[in-house]
Amino acid sequence: MRIDVKCISDVHAKSDLLVVNHYEDEKSLGEAARSADRALGGIITRLVKDGEISGKLGKITLIHCEGRLKAKKLAVVGMGKREKVDLDTVRCAGAAIVNKAREIKAGSIATVVHGAGKGGLDVKDAAKALVEGAVLGVYRFCGYAKEKELPDFKVDNLLIIECDKNKMRSIRAGAELGRIIAEAENHARDLVNEPSNRLTPSAFAKLAVKIAKVNKLKVAVLDPKKEGMGALLSVAKGSDEPPKLVAIEYRGNPGSKEKIALVGKGITFDSGGISLKPSKNMEEMKTDMAGAAAVLGIMSLLSDLKPKKNVIGIMPLTENMPSGHATKPGDVITSLSGYTVEVINTDAEGRMILADAITYAKKRGATRIIDIATLTGGCIVALGDAASGVIGNDDEMIGSLIKTGNDCGQKMWRLPLYDEYKEAIKSSVADLKNSSGTGKAQPSIGAAFLAKFVGDTPWAHMDIAGTAYFTKACKYLAEGATGVPVRTIIEWLINS
Ligand code: BES
Ligand code: MN
Ligand code: ZN
Repeated sequence: MRIDVKCISDVHAKSDLLVVNHYEDEKSLGEAARSADRALGGIITRLVKDGEISGKLGKITLIHCEGRLKAKKLAVVGMGKREKVDLDTVRCAGAAIVNKAREIKAGSIATVVHGAGKGGLDVKDAAKALVEGAVLGVYRFCGYAKEKELPDFKVDNLLIIECDKNKMRSIRAGAELGRIIAEAENHARDLVNEPSNRLTPSAFAKLAVKIAKVNKLKVAVLDPKKEGMGALLSVAKGSDEPPKLVAIEYRGNPGSKEKIALVGKGITFDSGGISLKPSKNMEEMKTDMAGAAAVLGIMSLLSDLKPKKNVIGIMPLTENMPSGHATKPGDVITSLSGYTVEVINTDAEGRMILADAITYAKKRGATRIIDIATLTGGCIVALGDAASGVIGNDDEMIGSLIKTGNDCGQKMWRLPLYDEYKEAIKSSVADLKNSSGTGKAQPSIGAAFLAKFVGDTPWAHMDIAGTAYFTKACKYLAEGATGVPVRTIIEWLINS
């Protein structure tokens, strides 16, 4: 989908589908709707009076223009109640528009910037959210069916129109930013939706190298055996697929010693290992590399966005499988840090691979660490799919990440890291054990384990177990992978 911005009034915009909006419970029309209404002989006003145009968020009313406008059809998209409008409202509107265009086979859309008129949102932010919603909203995972249901109709063109010349620069900037970010999120979604027989650790690493090369970023694919990454190896032992650790580095502030490490859990399939998971829904465990996919998505656009930060993206990659070679409960392994770990539960494998990846991040000079992981079912119990859990040792980082997440439609909620949780993973035969064995407070226990490897480095851990993957469509996202938290981290890197 091409995205353009043009200084033109709605009545003059040529397209298959022209889009204006209306707010719920509002009597008067916004500026663009009013000029379209005038050209159409007052039909919008009449439909609002009749209640057919309700203004409910995402609801679209179609009107055939029959030559009275340059566009073939007009869509009035509902924005919900005016006092509730925010950027997520605009994303929903953006997605509703492109999905309607696809449904009615409209190849070109011309739309005003929703939310920036009566909604009162900043025009650059609104343009960005509109494009995000549209690009995220059209996304579907292609899949591998030989017999596709219907040939999928593609919307070719999204034209953003505005008649005030002074707003063009802001709209252009917002739209371009929104496109870059949403495309990176979609890229991450593609990886998460990909089945594990196709996206093996080696295939992931190969793709990461390709992306790094295209973006002229320094990249290393490490053999965990040669590096002494005993915790990562202990997870990989049961699999025939060789594990990898990929590190990609972006230097946006060469003069500074600051280096932010983004560490993403990359379990391409989590069977649980010897502590085997039940078979129900086990297929969803192909998504257990969503953290690594998010990190790769973020790294892929830093050369375009050029934030003045030094960032290293670290992706430990492996399958977690049972076999005669697999790690067994009770085994004690030595991690890259030198700390020994008693493996209580081979299904608590995410923290194992992250432990070595975090140690590696510190070796590479990380001054701040953010890890992103589908770490615990307990996080889904606590927060559902509404919010990611955030835990760490640095109030400022945690606060700013949560605020950014909430501002950009990826909600986050802080969970505690009390000393009790650190106590619960003390082992009688090793420095620590990978599970308390009680099943209680899993997100915090998982974080307490990671904290040992993080040490004093400022750090935030994001548990995205509930938010990385939706089994049914929600707001502007189709079912499947969500791309969380690509958008949040990018905003945070730009603004913090
Ligand atoms: N990958 C899972 C967590 C998960 C569960 C993600 C459901 C997405 C959906 C993780 O590796 C895991 O198995 N965690 C265990 C931890 C326990 C053994 C301490 C869990 O959540 O039960
Ligand atoms: Mn597991
Ligand atoms: Zn896992």
